[in-house]
Amino acid sequence: MAALGRPRRSCLAVPGSSVKMLGKAQGLPADQVFLDLEDAVAALAKPDARKNVVAALNDGDWAGKTRAVRVNDLTTPWTYRDVIEVVEGAGANLDCIILPKVQSAAHVEWLDLTLTQIERAIGLPVGGIGIEAQIENAAGLVNVDAIAAASRRMETIIFGPADFMASINMRSLTVGALIPDYPGDPYHYILMRLLMAARMHDLQAIDGPFLQIRDLDGFHAAARRSAALGFDGKWVLHPGQIETANEIYSPAQEDYDRAELILDAYEHATSEAGGLRGAVMLGDEMIDEASRKMALVVSAKGRAAGMKRTTAFTPPN
Ligand code: GLV
Ligand code: MG
Repeated sequence: MAALGRPRRSCLAVPGSSVKMLGKAQGLPADQVFLDLEDAVAALAKPDARKNVVAALNDGDWAGKTRAVRVNDLTTPWTYRDVIEVVEGAGANLDCIILPKVQSAAHVEWLDLTLTQIERAIGLPVGGIGIEAQIENAAGLVNVDAIAAASRRMETIIFGPADFMASINMRSLTVGALIPDYPGDPYHYILMRLLMAARMHDLQAIDGPFLQIRDLDGFHAAARRSAALGFDGKWVLHPGQIETANEIYSPAQEDYDRAELILDAYEHATSEAGGLRGAVMLGDEMIDEASRKMALVVSAKGRAAGMKRTTAFTPPN
């Protein structure tokens, strides 16, 4: 699945234990929903949560949304039952499984093989269900290239800041926010590392949650930081964060218009009619093949977000 595949500007967490929230999420404008069986669900509530998630996938109206389920990680006793119950029960109405706390390629390979078995057993297309790998500790980060390459089902690499901060003993309790004692962005290295692995394997890179759900300015600032690096979207924990994420991970209208203009101008310049030129002026800017590649990224994100251009290209005479 290409990095610019399914839109995932906003990925809404929905606890599998809450029938009410599983219902409400269907009407919200998130690009992706993930029905959670992991950390938003208490241990004793997990068996019922599996049933709620299967029912919500089969009976709910998720039109226009990517449907994922986050199962428990492979150090728990729950993962295999999560996968079997959810995929046997609702595999035809499911796009991806999110595997949290992935530490090595073997974790993804296990999930890939298990999905293949279930798909064969119940007659679903083999390979139809994608995998999203959440990186939440040092082992996952160190092994992220192998994790990204571990299966053709891989669609995203996701950052899990809360577990990550805890696992490396980072001294902060405010997940996703900057730390006053550190004169920079403490997440920069981690985010760039995840982004490189994702891009190398043509996957999407997704930023994790911002837990202070009433601090919309803080959410805005955190989302802008990862969007500026090239991340494709971010987890949202509250309906109030959705529109902001959709806006921040889409290009600005002005940038989208400019990208489409660069593509048209460059195509014209390199054609017979344009004199077969490899570099031309567009306004005050010199554009060439590298400009085209940069414009392609912005244009693809804008088109995936359903944006319409507001300017047309007029060939110079
Ligand atoms: C999400 O799972 C996180 O740990 O931040
Ligand atoms: Mg986590």
